[in-house]
Amino acid sequence: MNVGVVHEAPRPTKSSMELLKAFQELGVNAKYYRISRLSGAFGEKGLTIRYGKHVVHLDAIVVRSLGSIMTTEQLLKRIGLLREMELKGIVVVNPSEAFIKARDKYTSLLLLSKNKVPVPDTIVTEDVHVVVDAVKEWGTVVIKPIIGSLGFGSVKVNDPDIAYRVAKTLLSLGHPVYVQRYIEKPGRDIRVFTVGKRILAAAYRIAPPGQWKTNVAQGAITKPARVDGVLEDIVLRVVEVLSLEYAGIDVAEAPNGGYYVLEANVAPLWEGLAKATGVNPAKAIARHVVELARR
Ligand SMILES: Nc1ncnc2c1ncn2[C@@H]1O[C@H](COP(=O)(O)OP(=O)(O)O)[C@@H](O)[C@H]1O
Ligand SMILES: [Mg+2]
Repeated sequence: MNVGVVHEAPRPTKSSMELLKAFQELGVNAKYYRISRLSGAFGEKGLTIRYGKHVVHLDAIVVRSLGSIMTTEQLLKRIGLLREMELKGIVVVNPSEAFIKARDKYTSLLLLSKNKVPVPDTIVTEDVHVVVDAVKEWGTVVIKPIIGSLGFGSVKVNDPDIAYRVAKTLLSLGHPVYVQRYIEKPGRDIRVFTVGKRILAAAYRIAPPGQWKTNVAQGAITKPARVDGVLEDIVLRVVEVLSLEYAGIDVAEAPNGGYYVLEANVAPLWEGLAKATGVNPAKAIARHVVELARR
């Protein structure tokens, strides 16, 4: 069996290395591919995937990143490539559909909300006054990039004038504004890691004192977390709705005891989770991918 680990970094990242190793331990031939160097061909000879000039024969891939996307065309090419692979019968994890649905926070939370998954009140707008009104109504909000990760670029705002300035600046740069009611969570959130249709592990991500972001990249520490039945139901619904073969789902605990899903990561990092729980997601993902490819 030939498997690819796909990313855009010139050299495999730590998680890509762990995946390559996990596949090799299963006796699978695994190689690293940069997404920008993969081409999709079609026509009289059918569908072929090339890496540089060489035709590649793959049974499955794990997509760790689509690369930093500069243009809409790049995004369409890279998603299209995943779709072509799927049409060729290659197992793509996560599937193109998951990337389409989960990569932007608008589409993903919209679909979750529509499917009865609790998410914070959210408005996506190009109107500065709508942002200001949201702050007046909700008190504290988070303004975050529609496509973003690792906690970078999100700002917490409770002053309508600051919201005005932030929104005005974003809009002048052509960025619609994603504004969300702030959940008064207890200095932590829960990262639930799923593989297939089950929960692999979960960790509390505890923000540094006085900080509100719980990303490990922002200095959070991790501790093992318990997943109760309510949270399990929510998380498994997220997996179903967003077509995720594996995922890192971020959940905030509200003061009233309820859960709110903040986002679902389609290519999550797992260093903090592995450290807290002793579980190695790379092995579980590799086993799952091999199982899907053998079907
Ligand atoms: N609505 C919110 N209420 C409270 N905290 C939030 C909210 N949205 C995000 N956060 C905090 O910010 C972090 C990053 O937000 P998230 O939506 O997961 O984006 P990213 O893709 O940057 O990780 C979350 O893990 C959480 O700690
Ligand atoms: Mg997150």
